[in-house]
Amino acid sequence: LDNGLARTPPMGFNDWNAFGCNVSEQLIEQTADYLVSSGLRDDGYTYVNIDDCWLTHSRDAAGNLVPDPAKFPDGIKGTADYVHAKGLKLGIYEDAGTATCAGYPGSLGHEQQDANSFAAWGVDYLKYDNCNNTGVPWQQRYDAMRDALAATGRPIVFSMCEWGEDSVWTWGAPTGNLWRTTGDISANFSSMLSIYHSNVQLAAYAGPGGWNDPDMLEVGNGMSFTEDRSEFSLWAEMAAPLIAGTDLRQATPATLSLYGNKAVIAVDQDPLGRQGTQVSSSGGLDVLAKPLANGDVAVVLFNENSSAATISTTAGAVGLPASSSYKLTNLWSNAVTSSGGAISASVPGHGSVMYRVSPGSGSSTGTTHPLLGASSHR
Ligand code: DGJ
Repeated sequence: LDNGLARTPPMGFNDWNAFGCNVSEQLIEQTADYLVSSGLRDDGYTYVNIDDCWLTHSRDAAGNLVPDPAKFPDGIKGTADYVHAKGLKLGIYEDAGTATCAGYPGSLGHEQQDANSFAAWGVDYLKYDNCNNTGVPWQQRYDAMRDALAATGRPIVFSMCEWGEDSVWTWGAPTGNLWRTTGDISANFSSMLSIYHSNVQLAAYAGPGGWNDPDMLEVGNGMSFTEDRSEFSLWAEMAAPLIAGTDLRQATPATLSLYGNKAVIAVDQDPLGRQGTQVSSSGGLDVLAKPLANGDVAVVLFNENSSAATISTTAGAVGLPASSSYKLTNLWSNAVTSSGGAISASVPGHGSVMYRVSPGSGSSTGTTHPLLGASSHR
């Protein structure tokens, strides 16, 4: 959607994966505090997003949505003010149907009134769900809210939660800033893997202002550390929204080391805005490549199987120009190595190795000295 927003994939937090309906002002504000104190805000995690169940069960006499006063004693406006004072932005959730998935009042037929409420409260991001849609065509429902948000004059990211129905990627770009490409994720490897398989095919549809959304991150919610690291690597490689779905306040240092990897975040947020593609996939051993703005390529070697395997590709296969040497930076270990063109690693079961590969050493003699390569490229 060409509204000037989400020129790179949105980053932030959403409560649903870890808390379900147990959202509250306290949770949102404590998470905002934590994003600041942990440094994650400065790493790019900007949006603090409220999911379903923030409402009361009926509209007021004037037809306005009413935040649950027990969960949000200061209302959404008070919560937004708090979040904004921390240098963050506030997201909210509604539904393009008669009721949200959890049964609270939906926005179908109330689009402008509800968009006006969101804008008046200071909301910066809307996740718009698809339950109870009574069969009204998608375009009518999602375009109505897009237009209502635009009419408020407030910049509000529009996140379409249409679960990949109606091949949303083929029509999403003029309507929303991101669109879910699948059903809901859960915190296990097979769920993550099946969503990856669907989303990775859709690279052609993604770009600045309009992103494929393979759902919120489950990092920290129950997969192994190796699997969590694969999810984070794959989501970054696919230019996916990086919306943390765990209780960050309780996250372990290991979990935070995944969410906070600046080099991997930089791949996700690269200004070229290209989603990575599968260069090869054979027997569950995948090679992905994502072209980056400075001419580097981000490469993920992903092992879908449960036992370790060597995964190999070449600089040419991932789209790099011919060169006598390449610099490989391992984005999880920070190790820098030099290669004549081979890109290969032993990858643990369910694991990933992620490289940023730069062509050339910058030396006119074409030496492959790894430190020269490291210092001369940028
Ligand atoms: C379905 C969505 O896909 C989930 O992400 C979440 O928002 C729930 N609805 C909330 O009811």
